[in-house]
Amino acid sequence: MPGDKSISHRALLLGGIASGETRVSGFLESADCLATMAALRALGVRITQPGSNEVIVRGAGADGLRASPAPLDMGNAGTAMRLSMGLLCGQPFSSTLVGDASLMQRPMERVATPLRLMGARIDTRDGRPPVVLHGGARLHGIDYPLPMASAQVKSALLLAGLGAAGTTRVTEPAPTRDHTERMFGGFGVAVHRDGATVALTGGQILRGADIRVPGDFSSAAFFIVAGCLAAPDGLTVQGVGVNPTRTGLLDMLRLMGGRISVRELPDALGPEPLADITIHASPLRGAVIPPELVPLAIDELPILFIAAACADGETVVTGAGELRVKESDRLAAMAEGLLALGVRCELLPDGIRIQGGRPGGGRIDSHGDHRIAMSFAIASLRASAPIEISDVANVGTSFPGFPALARAIGMRVEETGQP
Ligand code: S3P
Repeated sequence: MPGDKSISHRALLLGGIASGETRVSGFLESADCLATMAALRALGVRITQPGSNEVIVRGAGADGLRASPAPLDMGNAGTAMRLSMGLLCGQPFSSTLVGDASLMQRPMERVATPLRLMGARIDTRDGRPPVVLHGGARLHGIDYPLPMASAQVKSALLLAGLGAAGTTRVTEPAPTRDHTERMFGGFGVAVHRDGATVALTGGQILRGADIRVPGDFSSAAFFIVAGCLAAPDGLTVQGVGVNPTRTGLLDMLRLMGGRISVRELPDALGPEPLADITIHASPLRGAVIPPELVPLAIDELPILFIAAACADGETVVTGAGELRVKESDRLAAMAEGLLALGVRCELLPDGIRIQGGRPGGGRIDSHGDHRIAMSFAIASLRASAPIEISDVANVGTSFPGFPALARAIGMRVEETGQP
């Protein structure tokens, strides 16, 4: 599996403000992570790529970043923009953050509001980018109960907390991915967790680290569902990060009758657990998905909906309103696509109800969302006729090798040259 996107972003950002060199192996060379890399370079960080999926970041140190001469373009990457808001809002210089058409529509007040409580001066346009971070703010720690389960907001506040006076405490309504907290340890930063609260004291100095990035569970998810649908002899996805804050999809699929085994690898990659995951096709049945699993599978719900569309009976997902503010409104985009394939489904305010069966063929608009495009590609394994998916260029934001790997497991994928 290609490297984890969330962890690749974080390795660059933490490496950028550390003292000394950070060596990253298994780095994901996707458009999103390259946007973070370009932004850091514009801020004066020296970064080289000595080999494929290898990166060396020569950290600027705590006070070493410089103003970018131009707005920082985060492309399609919400993680890059939101974490950079935390990283940059306490700098002596101002920064402007922009992105592509999708990112320019995404909510940024969820990060700007608590950062302002810490003393930052931030402008958004009706809550959306461009985001202007005014330099010279003096930050102080706050005690902040997160209104929504969001690792991006949590991570932004912790990054700002590094440069803040006193302690920054963030309390989560539900567990979310904890890669930032885990990676901080490797850079020599102490983070304390007490139940749902994570706390960090400002003024800590980061030391360069060796980061080995595990395979991306969110990319593996497409092949895990492919295995459930169409691999009677088994399919093994190798070298996947199995941080328990990411693997809710496995629990959901098992609830539906999925036959999945996880073999943890002994040579764990530092703080992140690693595994080979083997899947055997099995008849899936619909299920009521426990809402507490949703934040642990937030990026995997589109592909779960495909599993549900191919299962026997009804699947109900609730507590997933956050899907409406991802790269697209993923609830609406998935419902539209499922209906186009003849799958009966009903959109709920914070979820979806899907009547499983056998999808037909049809034309799907991915709405420029990588995970919508890849999910419907996997649906073809069970569909009665071809599926044509448009606007797929953004697959390269997270998984440039997806079409080749899909072919390698026996899928018939044609690229028409009209993304
Ligand atoms: C991410 C957190 C999640 C996820 C996104 C990556 C991260 O977003 O959907 O793809 O790297 O922290 P939210 O924090 O908005 O839930």
